[in-house]
Amino acid sequence: MELGLKGRIAFVTGASRGIGAEIASALAAEGVSLALFGRDLLRCNALAARLVERNPDIRAVVCELDMQQPDQLARAVAKAGDALGGCDILVNCAGGATRGRLEDIPEDAWELNFNVKPLGLVRVTRNCLPLLRKSNQARIINVAGTRGREPGTFSVMSSPINLATLGVTKALANELGPQGITVNAINPGSTDTGRWIELVKMTAKDRQISTDEAKKYLNREVPLGRVVMPEDIAGLAVFLASSHAGMITGVAINVDGGRSRSI
Ligand SMILES: NC(=O)c1ccc[n+]([C@@H]2O[C@H](COP(=O)([O-])OP(=O)(O)OC[C@H]3O[C@@H](n4cnc5c(N)ncnc54)[C@H](OP(=O)(O)O)[C@@H]3O)[C@@H](O)[C@H]2O)c1
Repeated sequence: MELGLKGRIAFVTGASRGIGAEIASALAAEGVSLALFGRDLLRCNALAARLVERNPDIRAVVCELDMQQPDQLARAVAKAGDALGGCDILVNCAGGATRGRLEDIPEDAWELNFNVKPLGLVRVTRNCLPLLRKSNQARIINVAGTRGREPGTFSVMSSPINLATLGVTKALANELGPQGITVNAINPGSTDTGRWIELVKMTAKDRQISTDEAKKYLNREVPLGRVVMPEDIAGLAVFLASSHAGMITGVAINVDGGRSRSI
């Protein structure tokens, strides 16, 4: 299927590892040039080199960006825009949330995590808008999380962070629709990145079981019976970025193997 992505340009935050790196790789495979935003420049540079080697038709630039330092933002976005000549797709993926019960979460973690996502996402998006407005296939894809809609164990922080991300997504879809920009969210369920391993360890400790048992316990909650892989998320991101998703905006799609219980 022709996806209408060849020659497009995507900016991806949180591109150094995990879901962001996988989305960047999947877009590169469709001929999309990339600006990889992250703090870990070593990992971002290695990924950029790998992607260009595998997909010689694309370009990839690395832009240093710590969401805790909003003053870097305008510079980072300008660098990406100058190097690649525009932006068609913005993937907001940077973030995470400290897991735990309320009293286990240090006070400063709240401000830190909200600064990265959803505040960081708002700031990055605002800086990218002038570039997105020039595209004839402009897409914003926010990586939120199922806990925004359905809080679970250890999710007192991830729930409000992802709920805020979903609210911003819907509000921006209304605001930017008339300008031809679609805005959607992907809600990963527990996904096999560093964050999943952390959840497995916490569950094992909490339930006094082994990590293998904790994995089985967590997978039993998933009708499809396994942890989500970053590739599962990337496939949806590619579709939402494609020309086929031009009439989809303001939605949040779960990729969680059916774990969410709500309709
Ligand atoms: N994995 C899951 O189970 C799951 C479930 C629901 C939602 N999500 C969401 O999916 C997204 C990606 O998560 P992941 O599982 O791929 O996590 P990950 O492997 O821990 O990656 C997190 C990414 O966010 C970046 N980041 C963190 N703090 C940052 C900061 N201050 N400034 C700039 N970048 C920062 C990291 O960059 P550095 O390398 O520079 O640190 C990294 O690229 C997050 O928004 C997370 O909330 C994940």
